[in-house]
Amino acid sequence: MSRIFALMSGKGGVGKSTLAAAMAVYYARQHLRVTLLDGDIGLRCVDLMLGLQDRVIYDLGDLMEKRCLPEQALVSPEEMPGLSLLAAPQLMKASDIKGKELAALIAQLSAETDILLIDAPAGVGRGLKNVLGAHARPILVVTPDDVSLRDAERLSSILAEREEERPGLIVNRARPRLIRRGEMMAPAAMAQVLDLPLLGVLPESEKMYRAFLRHESPLDCGDHAVADAVACAASRMLGADTPLPDYGPRPFLRFFERKGGAAL
Ligand SMILES: Nc1ncnc2c1ncn2[C@@H]1O[C@H](COP(=O)(O)OP(=O)(O)OP(=O)(O)O)[C@@H](O)[C@H]1O
Ligand SMILES: [Mg+2]
Repeated sequence: MSRIFALMSGKGGVGKSTLAAAMAVYYARQHLRVTLLDGDIGLRCVDLMLGLQDRVIYDLGDLMEKRCLPEQALVSPEEMPGLSLLAAPQLMKASDIKGKELAALIAQLSAETDILLIDAPAGVGRGLKNVLGAHARPILVVTPDDVSLRDAERLSSILAEREEERPGLIVNRARPRLIRRGEMMAPAAMAQVLDLPLLGVLPESEKMYRAFLRHESPLDCGDHAVADAVACAASRMLGADTPLPDYGPRPFLRFFERKGGAAL
């Protein structure tokens, strides 16, 4: 069994790397073998997010150019041997990578793991093209705003033109209060506009951001809503029927709505 997922976005900074790192830790704690490939050539960051920056000696570029063996390039946290990270090269450009060779390497890595997560670069340029062709299921990460939505629409149509597998959608940085007030687009509405299955919704979380500043996993940030949301999205990606967090009206508002009262 190997499942390959690529976390992508049109707009940058929506949380792909944060999510990829959090999901990798989640799967490893579920006793699955997970390999995380930092696909952001020239701008690696997942090593920092996992606190593995001092362990990285070789990277994806070294492995592709056969300067090291896979076991030298894959690094694991001591307490989580089931998680392996392959860091992106710092001194290469996306255009230095040959898509077919990368696809072959991804196929080779995926044979040795249960789950392979690819943290793709933002945008629709060469970096994305490198990742396409890897037979990964695209996971579109968006934030609940029109800029992110528009960019996701563009990315989604590029994926459809290339006959990639139908993407799943994860909405990050959702703010329940703003959604309930109608100021922020509801995750379900975003999924409807994009016509994509909604696989996860993560809340905006200061605790999660502070964990990022400390190079700690969002799963250990002390915000249970974040840990639950990561678990939910990660298990839904594997086909589980875990219910999504409910960002609809609060129960007493639902009561008024059922009675035909005005939304407060
Ligand atoms: N739910 C959240 N709540 C608070 N902060 C968040 C949340 N998700 C992500 N962040 C913060 O947003 C910033 C950008 O996240 P991240 O680097 O994961 O985005 P990205 O999509 O990978 O960016 P890029 O497109 O540059 O690769 C980070 O500082 C991260 O800690
Ligand atoms: Mg990133």
